[in-house]
Formats: sequence, structure tokens, C-alpha cells
Amino acid sequence: MALLELEHITAGYEKNIILRDFNLKVERGQFVSLLGSSGCGKTTTLRLIAGFSQPNEGRIVFDGKDITHVPLHRRNFGFVFQSYALFPHMTVFDNVAFGLKMRKVPKEEMKRRVMEMLALVDLTGFEGRYPREMSGGQRQRVALARAMVIRPDLMLFDEPLSNLDAKLRVKMRVEIRRIQQELGFTAIYVTHDQEECFAISDQVAIMNGGVIEQMDSPAHIFNSPNTEFIARFVGFENFFNLTRRGGALQTESGLALKVTREVSGDRFRACIRPEDVVLYPGDTQGENRIEGEVLVTTFLGRNIQYNVRTAIGEFVIRAGQEQAYSVGSRVSLELSANKIILIRS
Ligand SMILES: Nc1ncnc2c1ncn2[C@@H]1O[C@H](COP(=O)(O)OP(=O)(O)O)[C@@H](O)[C@H]1O
Ligand SMILES: [Mg+2]
Repeated sequence: MALLELEHITAGYEKNIILRDFNLKVERGQFVSLLGSSGCGKTTTLRLIAGFSQPNEGRIVFDGKDITHVPLHRRNFGFVFQSYALFPHMTVFDNVAFGLKMRKVPKEEMKRRVMEMLALVDLTGFEGRYPREMSGGQRQRVALARAMVIRPDLMLFDEPLSNLDAKLRVKMRVEIRRIQQELGFTAIYVTHDQEECFAISDQVAIMNGGVIEQMDSPAHIFNSPNTEFIARFVGFENFFNLTRRGGALQTESGLALKVTREVSGDRFRACIRPEDVVLYPGDTQGENRIEGEVLVTTFLGRNIQYNVRTAIGEFVIRAGQEQAYSVGSRVSLELSANKIILIRS
């Protein structure tokens, strides 16, 4: 049985419905991310799970019990937000101890648990400091310790790293994952950062227009997106139609293409990543090759991006600098059979 289940949830703000027939299952001990662009309803979902708001329809079931109308303070959940929301007039110790004081945990035990938690987030020795005397990364670790010290049944994260600089974000996400695995808690993590969420999660749920469009392991989503929307989210930029005719897959221009990973059906949206298209100078023959003309070149540092016109549409290609093509060059594009992904349409 799943630890948490959202069943047929409808929710929003006044007349503005954000989630419609929304469903989500989270297994015990898993790290699950909700990924989606800004405004797609991630925070709305997390607020419902936390108990900050109630759905108009549907049920939230936790550990077999209906908690849809259980108030926030009766759910033993921990939160970490983007703004650390520490108490500025309290020391690090008192910030972390707060939840334990509320729960009337005896003083000795409280002290031991706070110090344990500070050690876990690598902040031993900082207990007497105030938030203003700490860096962003340190404050976020205090927020993490404060949320975890109550031994929550579920940890909820809402873009906890988005106020940190890029290097620290990468470091902190590894820390969060390490601590989650060490303590074994179940986590729901909201982000709009694809790389971050793939790095940290067991399961990723990609949201679009108030529903989950695909939920799978990061590797599965990366290699087998279900829809064009998901494919775009994980780096596919080139799309074209393929139709099965007499056993072969053909482009609209009549070219037969081989595809390693076959999918049943007759009409497909096919896609390939910009890094996976191989360019050759001039018009060359070969399996899965199409001709094109370079329209735009853009220097990106590690590679060069080409926009190339072909008979089946414009392609975006990113290639190394060993071979540069100028605007107007004739080129051949190799769409390798093992790099093409089929999406049934
Ligand atoms: N308090 C609110 N009142 C009215 N509309 C809101 C409120 N909070 C969010 N919204 C709207 O709900 C939609 C989803 O918001 P949100 O869940 O915060 O998105 P996300 O976290 O994915 O960026 C957005 O269109 C947003 O404008
Ligand atoms: Mg949000």
C-alpha cells in the first residue's frame, strides 16, 4: 500500500481551479519530485498535502487513513521552503528546538536531538549563532535540521535550493539525498529544475496543466518520454512525423528511417536530441541520413549549435568544434536509429 495517496483531487483558489482530477501515489521511503514550469500547480499540491489548504473534491490518504480534513498541526510533516523562514531573533539551537518545545519533549532529550541533527547537517558549533550571522547555505541547513528534528512521517520541500548559487545548489542536493537515505524518510520535493530533480529522486512526476503527465524513474523518463511535452522537458528539440507504410517507417518526405526501439502503432511523433544528430559535410548517402542547409550557427563554448533546414523541417544540432560549418553550407544529418524515440500520435 502506498504511504500517501491523492485521489481525484480538485483544488484551486476561489473560482480558479488549478488541479483537476489530480492523482498521486507515493511509496514509503521514496524520494518523489514534482517537476513542472512555474505556475503549473506544484506549490498548490504541496500545500494540500501539508494541510495548509483543503481540496474541493477528492481524498488525501496517509498510511491508510483519510487525512483530507485533518488540520496541519495534527499531521506530523516537516517542511522546507525556498525562503528559509527561520526565526530571526532565535539562535540556531532554538530554531531547531522549536518543534520539540511545541511537542513538550523533555529538556535533556531535546538537547540531544538538536545536537544530533546539527551534526547531521554539519553545523556542530553553530548552535549559538543567529540566522543573520550565517550564509544562505548554512541557513538552509538549519531549516533542514529544524524540519527533520521532529522525525516527521513525511518531508515536504518546496524549491528549497532556488535561493542558493549554482555551486551550492549542487552540493546541497547531494546533502539532502544523503540525509534522506540515512534517515530513511519519505520525501516530496517540488522544483522547476529538471537536472536537480533527476539527480535527487527515485521517482519524478512531471506536471502539465494541473495533472501529472508522466511519473517514472528519472532514467525511464529521460529515455522513454510518453508525450511531446515530456520529451521537450528532457532535452528533445527535434520533432518530426513518421508513418508506418508497408512495414517501414517513413518521413513525410518519403524517406525510410530505421528505429531501434520500435513501438506498436502506425503514426508517430519521432524525436531526437540536438547532441545526438551527427553532421557530415555535403550531400552524403547512408542509412538514416537526410540533406540540409545550415541557416544559423551559434557559438556556445563547449559546442556549436546549428539550425539546419531539411525536407522534414528545421533541426537544431549541437556538435563539437572540430568541424565547423558556415551559414549556407550543404550538410547531411545522420539520425541514428538508436537515438530516435517514437511517441505514438
Ligand atoms: N493564493 C493564491 N490565490 C490565487 N491564485 C493563486 C494563489 N496561489 C497560486 N495561485 C495561482 O495558481 C496557479 C498555480 O500556482 P502554484 O501552485 O503556486 O504554481 P507553482 O508552484 O507550480 O509555480 C498559478 O496560476 C497561480 O497564479
Ligand atoms: Mg511554487
